[in-house]
Amino acid sequence: MTLHIYQARLLHYLVSDEAINNGCNSSPYCLQLQQPLMPVNHGDTIAPEYIPKGALVIDDKSGVIIDYGASHEILDKYQNVEVHDYGDKLIMPGFIDTHVHYPQLDIIAAYGEQLLDWLNNYTFVAEVKYGNAEYSCAKAEFFLNQLFANGTTSAMVFATSHYCSANEFFKASSLLNSRMICGNVLMDQNAPNTLCVNAIQGIKDTQKLIDNWHNNGRQMVAITPRFAITSSPEQLKLAGKLYLQNNGVYLQTHLAENQDEIAAVNEMYPQYQGYLDVYDQMGLLGRKTTLAHGIYLNESEYQRLQQTGTQISHCPTSNLFLGSGLFDLPKTLSFTGVSIATDVGAETSLNLLSTLNEAYKIQQLQGNRLSAHQGLYQITLGNAQSLCLEDKIGNFAKGSEADFVVIDPKATPLLENRISQTSTLEEALFILMMLADDRVIEQTFIAGISRYRIKRHN
Ligand code: GUN
Ligand code: ZN
Repeated sequence: MTLHIYQARLLHYLVSDEAINNGCNSSPYCLQLQQPLMPVNHGDTIAPEYIPKGALVIDDKSGVIIDYGASHEILDKYQNVEVHDYGDKLIMPGFIDTHVHYPQLDIIAAYGEQLLDWLNNYTFVAEVKYGNAEYSCAKAEFFLNQLFANGTTSAMVFATSHYCSANEFFKASSLLNSRMICGNVLMDQNAPNTLCVNAIQGIKDTQKLIDNWHNNGRQMVAITPRFAITSSPEQLKLAGKLYLQNNGVYLQTHLAENQDEIAAVNEMYPQYQGYLDVYDQMGLLGRKTTLAHGIYLNESEYQRLQQTGTQISHCPTSNLFLGSGLFDLPKTLSFTGVSIATDVGAETSLNLLSTLNEAYKIQQLQGNRLSAHQGLYQITLGNAQSLCLEDKIGNFAKGSEADFVVIDPKATPLLENRISQTSTLEEALFILMMLADDRVIEQTFIAGISRYRIKRHN
């Protein structure tokens, strides 16, 4: 056991049980919010805990959080432990991206199309290259480094339809000991031949990934049909069967993102009650299912999400970039758990703070608000809850995996000027959420090990 103490401002979020167990009500660091946060999943009460002079105790051998608290108490309790002092920087749990395509970093910021044309003209063209294992390996390493440079420490990731693209991703993530969820994309129609894998082979590939990688260290597998358009009914049914047979694996796909997409699905499946019903009848819904987007849903679809515990991943920048539409966050949250994600390459950044900036604007356009605490809770503990990982990642609870990020809220002259004029924490955090990009990410730790540190040119 090798302990380290990281000293700085600490900010994370607690759910009600922890809040009570930790004596949060009597803690000077648990903030009483004027408006309660909208909880995802469990109806829990969420409390921010902010410790202005805090310290985090990490064991870098086991990669877990041993303790946290006010710095003077921690330093008294743990003597002769190396202290890393980050002054007035902010340490938060690592961010969690619940929907992102690693091969699409190659086509991020591609001009001019909405979803279906964007897929055909840019995405599929890029994904063909991932049939080569060496190429996949190099790009997986690049992607993971880019995630860490943006403070993201865990993600649920689409590979491509090639087995090697997911296998190489897991190899790269496993070497870095990062907690990642990934799967080979199931597609057997309406895509270039080189990307289509027949229904049985695609499922066999996923089963092989499950056998080799699911819960192998910190790696986890998601069954990954791309969406209803690119899978035959046979493939979707087999995916549902696989989901049923492999307790604990995830399922990820896309739902109701774009009007032309929905029209195509309705035409392909006239006998079903709508887009969600296609997935429902194929056995794809459940608590471990995350559906990206869900912009256009009717009342019975919201209810079905609620009944099955199916989660929605909201991808604000992607929705704006592809001109898809405006997601109703409060409405969806009133039915089921929502996480917030980038959806790169349709989003123009891997940075979840800048994603929150766009999420805020999407809600503004609909007369809703997204506070800084709501947003920051969401990209840490909230996203962990949506993925059923809150006992492992998302806050500083003792025994949690030590994925954390050191943020410099005054990283740029503009941020410094603006933040130095604030008088409350909430105000400062909101400005951070609006103005931050990768320049605020000072350092990123994965399971207690530093995997990224910014290079400053003074
Ligand atoms: N729907 C099906 N595939 C995709 C994809 O790669 N990106 C997005 N944004 N939507 C999709
Ligand atoms: Zn996507």
